[in-house]
Amino acid sequence: MTARSAAGQPVGAARGAPGDRRRESRSKRASRPAPADSAALTSDAMRAALVASEPRAAADLGAIRIVRAPGRVNLIGEHTDYNLGLVLPAAIDLEIRIAFVPTDDRRVELVSSATGDRARFDLDAIGPRRRAWIDYVAGTAWALAEAGIAMRGLRGILVSSLPTASGLSSSAALELAAAWALADTPGGNIPPLSLARICQRAENAYVGVNCGLMDQFASACGVTGDAVLLDCRSLEFRPVALPLATHCLVVIHTGSTRSLTTSQYNLRRAQCEAAAAALAAENPAIESLRDVTPAMLPRVRALVGDAEFRRCRHVVSENGRVAETIDALAAGDLDAVGRLWAASHASLRDDFEVVSPELDALVEIATTVPGVAAARMTGAGFGGCTINLVARDAVDALRDAVAAEYPTRTGLAPRVYVVDAVAGAGFLAG
Ligand code: GLA
Repeated sequence: MTARSAAGQPVGAARGAPGDRRRESRSKRASRPAPADSAALTSDAMRAALVASEPRAAADLGAIRIVRAPGRVNLIGEHTDYNLGLVLPAAIDLEIRIAFVPTDDRRVELVSSATGDRARFDLDAIGPRRRAWIDYVAGTAWALAEAGIAMRGLRGILVSSLPTASGLSSSAALELAAAWALADTPGGNIPPLSLARICQRAENAYVGVNCGLMDQFASACGVTGDAVLLDCRSLEFRPVALPLATHCLVVIHTGSTRSLTTSQYNLRRAQCEAAAAALAAENPAIESLRDVTPAMLPRVRALVGDAEFRRCRHVVSENGRVAETIDALAAGDLDAVGRLWAASHASLRDDFEVVSPELDALVEIATTVPGVAAARMTGAGFGGCTINLVARDAVDALRDAVAAEYPTRTGLAPRVYVVDAVAGAGFLAG
């Protein structure tokens, strides 16, 4: 059978020469399970779907388990995680769920409920990546095995409400859901942060995306009603209260397919590391861009090329903006949060060069709507979504403004999601 991604694209067609824009956008990050409507995520619906597709589940209803893992928005601190800086993500109620029955045969077999696409592998012979959504599951099994975590086989069904390839971390959510489903004891009996690091290793070493820790961290360690500040060097983290009594988080999808994300992402990371290495050659105390202060920037400019310099300037200024956003939120100063998010967006556009014209258009439109306290792109960039902090009574006005202006400006259909901040991955109660 021809392997197909859950989005229905033939996975074989995704293999292509590096730099092939269309092919790369369909491969790796793009080939994740298609989103379902949220009714498909209820326990009853998932149990019924599993029973219909898996005789072992029908034979032993009591053995059925359901795990869930959320996507995330990043409020601020973009492209800082792999530079050992600060990030402020929130896990959101768009998520991936797996209903499954554990088995003793070491085989893992999953069906995407959105497409009927069935994929399988053996825990004792995981093999190389296939450039399909199952890679995130197989890679997680590979990384769990490497970490010495005991696993069992399973037969399961996978349902997602997360839009794919949108910068909302559907890959991390799939990894965390897989980790909870595969581990013999809940969550591998290890702290969620450790599980996040194992899932990051799956993505880095098995899937081949050189991502930082933020996405897996957010999906593993999310806190209901809060954002979570992570120091990516010390790995200390803490919840950060959001003004959710008066405001809500609104994610707006550009409707554009991300392209060249993986190669451009890995290039940005390499440019940051090159800037850090140039400084370290003069000053061994510099281990990463986290150690670079604004006062050092003139020296950076003298040492590295223009692109590396601007990548570095973004990371240094962005770390400062995360700290300032924490202070502004604590002080209830949403005007300051708005200025900081605007500066973050501009820095990602002008210095880091990851903002598409569609992301820019959405932020420009949102900024004109009274009651939108803050707006910026979120995630890796190159398409995907914006995040907006919006007064509850201004959400409809934001929807109307986006519907009225965005399609005529871009020819694309936006999607608006009002999201809640939720807890990290785990078993679904009930
Ligand atoms: C992607 C990566 C993260 C992080 C963001 C940018 O989501 O997976 O590790 O680098 O981009 O902030």
